[in-house]
Amino acid sequence: MTSPAPVVLVFLDPAFPAGRLADASQPQLLATDQGATRGDGIFETMLAVGGNVRKLQAHLDRLAGSALVLDLVIPAEELWRAAIETGVTEHRATHPAPTAAEDELVVKLVATRGAEGTDSPTCWVQVSPVGAAGRRQRETGIDVILLDRGYDSDVAERAPWLLLGAKTLSYAVNMAALRHARKQGADDVIFTSSDGRVLEGPTSTVLLAHLETSDDGEGGTRTVRRLITPQLDSGILPGTSQGALFTAAKAAGWELGYGPLEPQDLLDADAVWLISSIRLLAPVNHIDGKEIGTPALQKQLTAELNALYAGIQ
Ligand SMILES: Cc1ncc(COP(=O)(O)O)c(C=O)c1O
Repeated sequence: MTSPAPVVLVFLDPAFPAGRLADASQPQLLATDQGATRGDGIFETMLAVGGNVRKLQAHLDRLAGSALVLDLVIPAEELWRAAIETGVTEHRATHPAPTAAEDELVVKLVATRGAEGTDSPTCWVQVSPVGAAGRRQRETGIDVILLDRGYDSDVAERAPWLLLGAKTLSYAVNMAALRHARKQGADDVIFTSSDGRVLEGPTSTVLLAHLETSDDGEGGTRTVRRLITPQLDSGILPGTSQGALFTAAKAAGWELGYGPLEPQDLLDADAVWLISSIRLLAPVNHIDGKEIGTPALQKQLTAELNALYAGIQ
């Protein structure tokens, strides 16, 4: 039997300015917490490398944005920062990584609407090691299937109560889509809208690269490299990894584009990735069984984007 991964929990608690460490092997939540009974709450998942949480401000900003959408009043940013520091320090002290290359931690922030009948959110930070599967998929790439999410691409604006642009705890649908993919022999999913637009993965943002070589008018050729992601107003979560990578790629000479994208654009791309904070860039090898791009070019572009991403703090 394998032992569970070591988890450190830190609750945000007014009596503990640096956060209150709690035993992850013991019950810590009331059974009436609306995070548990209704999935009513928000979260963030961040990566700490060598003790440094990457894109921390972008995650805290998105947490604050999700809280606003859900009318949740959550503790101030400094309290989250202090609890994160406590959790990461405690995890690295009590469960040091065997090698520097493995010193990667998942840092999850959770805020629920709190116990029924109270008006007080329950907030905590959870720190645990990065799973082997995600690390592997960065190298091997993934096979993906397209699944209809059942909403059109205008629904986010028309029906804001669906909370589509917020990172809510209601991820049962996303997890069901992943189980469905695994039953079909695939690793992951790209959701499409009912009007045929490419949206996002259940836990990731879609990225594609398109290279266009043309005559430079002086007897040579010139290649325009474009990185494209679906447009944000189609009811998808704004990815902090995609945002940071776009900034770095622009500085490195890439052109940037924002949808609308259709499935055919994915099939015609030179490379497609699912990008997220923990797994980072996962190259997509096949979509619905069709090979994407060429393995050599995909490998080269992935290495280049990984190098750009490595420079992001
Ligand atoms: C639905 C969805 N889209 C995109 C992402 C990627 O976001 P980030 O790059 O900030 O991790 C996530 C992350 O979990 C997600 O759940």
